[in-house]
Amino acid sequence: MAITVENNVFSLETENTLYQMKADAFGVLNHLWYGAKTGCCMDYLLDYPDVGFAGNIYEAGDLRTYSLNTLPLEYAAAGTGDFRIPAVSVTHEDGSSALDLRFKEYHIKKGKYGIPGLPAVYADENEAETLEIMLKDTASETEVILLYGVFSQADVITRSVIVKNRGNSPIVINRVHSLCLDMPYGDWEWIHFHGRHTMERQAERTSLIHGIQESSSTRGTSSHQQNPAVLLCERGCTETQGFCIGAALMYSGGFQTQVEKDQLDQVRVVMGINPDTFAWTLEAGGSFYAPEVILSCSGHGMGELSHHFHDIIRNHVCRGKYKLAKRPVLINNWEATYFDFDDKKIEKIAKQASELGIDMMVLDDGWFGKRDSDTSGLGDWFVNEEKIRGGLKSLVERINKMGMKFGIWFEPEMVSEDSGLFQKHPEWAIRIPGRNPMRSRYQLVLDMSNTEVVEYLYQVISKILKENNIEYVKWDMNRSICDWYTETLPKHRQMEMPHRYVLGLYELLERLTGEFPDVLFEGCSGGGGRFDAGMLYYCPQIWCSDDTDAHERTFIQYGTSFFYPISAVGSHVSAVPNHQTGRSTSIQTRGTVAMAGSFGYELDLNKLSSEEKAEIAAQVSVYKEYQSLIYNGLYYRLSNPHDDNMSVWAFVSEKKADVLVQGVVFRAASNTLRRRIRLSGLDTVAKYQNVKNGYVYTGQALMSGGILLPEIKGDDVSVEIHLKKIEL
Ligand code: GLA
Repeated sequence: MAITVENNVFSLETENTLYQMKADAFGVLNHLWYGAKTGCCMDYLLDYPDVGFAGNIYEAGDLRTYSLNTLPLEYAAAGTGDFRIPAVSVTHEDGSSALDLRFKEYHIKKGKYGIPGLPAVYADENEAETLEIMLKDTASETEVILLYGVFSQADVITRSVIVKNRGNSPIVINRVHSLCLDMPYGDWEWIHFHGRHTMERQAERTSLIHGIQESSSTRGTSSHQQNPAVLLCERGCTETQGFCIGAALMYSGGFQTQVEKDQLDQVRVVMGINPDTFAWTLEAGGSFYAPEVILSCSGHGMGELSHHFHDIIRNHVCRGKYKLAKRPVLINNWEATYFDFDDKKIEKIAKQASELGIDMMVLDDGWFGKRDSDTSGLGDWFVNEEKIRGGLKSLVERINKMGMKFGIWFEPEMVSEDSGLFQKHPEWAIRIPGRNPMRSRYQLVLDMSNTEVVEYLYQVISKILKENNIEYVKWDMNRSICDWYTETLPKHRQMEMPHRYVLGLYELLERLTGEFPDVLFEGCSGGGGRFDAGMLYYCPQIWCSDDTDAHERTFIQYGTSFFYPISAVGSHVSAVPNHQTGRSTSIQTRGTVAMAGSFGYELDLNKLSSEEKAEIAAQVSVYKEYQSLIYNGLYYRLSNPHDDNMSVWAFVSEKKADVLVQGVVFRAASNTLRRRIRLSGLDTVAKYQNVKNGYVYTGQALMSGGILLPEIKGDDVSVEIHLKKIEL
């Protein structure tokens, strides 16, 4: 039993961790513990100091030491004397906004709960258990159901929340976070992932200040600028030692993560839908479902924590035929042609690609409507026969005849004003009556909260997928959203729209991925602007960044790897000088970096020399040889590119028999020692042989002494070392 309850103490046990809470004598649900398995009730850690200006609940009578403001709470509500950040806040019909949550009942169920309309970690009956705890505000008859999914083997706990209005009048939910985690002890730092378009998920580790720190998005998407995932590490925690907790929100819209260090040095983390762009009217009898948070912790450093997330996302979040399957090596024409192509040009690129062993041709933006630049055409998902002569079917057939699969680009959620769709349905574009909308990349956003829009997109996209042998879809989304307003909601409910947009998007994705389970969907939002666990439920891979420069990519992929599995990272070799940075790196370096992901190319192969083509053919076959190790092996970050002159990582096979070390050394230096890198995750007593030069080391030597990297001449030079365990 992963879930046990004794004397109102709830213990959620996984292989190596314990999550514990307790409903106390007043019915307040205290958070007791999240960390190593202790084999005991952790309520002895609760302290009851008499702190000035920390009020007491009424039933506590003269007991000045019992305060909601000082206790670790499992799910903090606003308005009743806990002055730290609340997880939930509502406004009642009378305008008041107190919520006094007390424990009422619980249920334990086999298997993992699901969430209507939202992505959620899934499992077979025997792979997980569910705990539901009901808290209630008696005065208003508002119920808050806390949901916990326990994945023993994976050392993962999921959390979600349902708010139920059992009263007679509507309430307004102003915030409902999916996670509230109180940590009364410890010296914590946090790592969040910030960035910008073409430089996503830059890992930043800082101390906590007294007060509130936040990582969030109000852009309608999870965003390039911040990612809905956070790590809390005890000071001194490294890749291989120390305690850390990770949380990732399965949500693709605006989110908020807040971390507060309070007056007593206690820490609270909340995470969920961003309340700045959210309010929800819950009618009497109604229920609201918050998205899910995936939670894990490790006492052995951040590397192991990442493995927990990689494992759960790959095996219990991603779905469809390609969930665990090897993904096709693809060639995408975007950086090769931009909008300037016709069917002949595409055929030529595909022909060359097929000769080099590449599996799939992806036709990017510009194949539809009047789309010769980014000023027009979005919304008109009909092939442009002036460019694709003979139509899409004929082109797909010609590509298939070369032995290649065919994939295609859509940006379903968008509309150009210069399009047939906008002329017919201007009311489908998001804008506020009486105001000019913001344009971004010249485009407007379709109202995905409108079921007519979702239905239209479903019809038009499914028709193309049915009529043509399309085996891959790149699902793009190229702007942030503002001007929130929808004709489908009355004025007092307009703040529901950002969340309803996400629900509409998920509904469309659910219908299309359900109907076409064999199609590989790759998410994208100007690269990695919507790289989150929610999208990974529908798309097992996401284009990691529009920055294809190998040097910068090592930073982006480093940050991405903390939570997201390597198979999820769309990564391509592109031309030099690189189109985003102007930097030139060798084809080897570009190949090495792109191989740490779902691999492909994004350049005009016909413009390459025969040596470069031969190199690409070799790369493709090397990638295919390593693909299973890259996807199924454990991934180790061996250096931090932000602190070091290199970015080096390794894949270690499940049985620790096969090890692939890859990386890039950034700047050459003269008169210096060769770089040394310590490996991780090996069998200490086993012997490992360097496949290239035959040298033999013990696992312990490789992990303690490390391995010397080859002598480096030049900047951004890639390294690759393949080691195999040998039988003695
Ligand atoms: C976004 C994507 C690119 C490409 C273009 C097409 O920027 O990230 O890969 O598809 O759109 O317009």
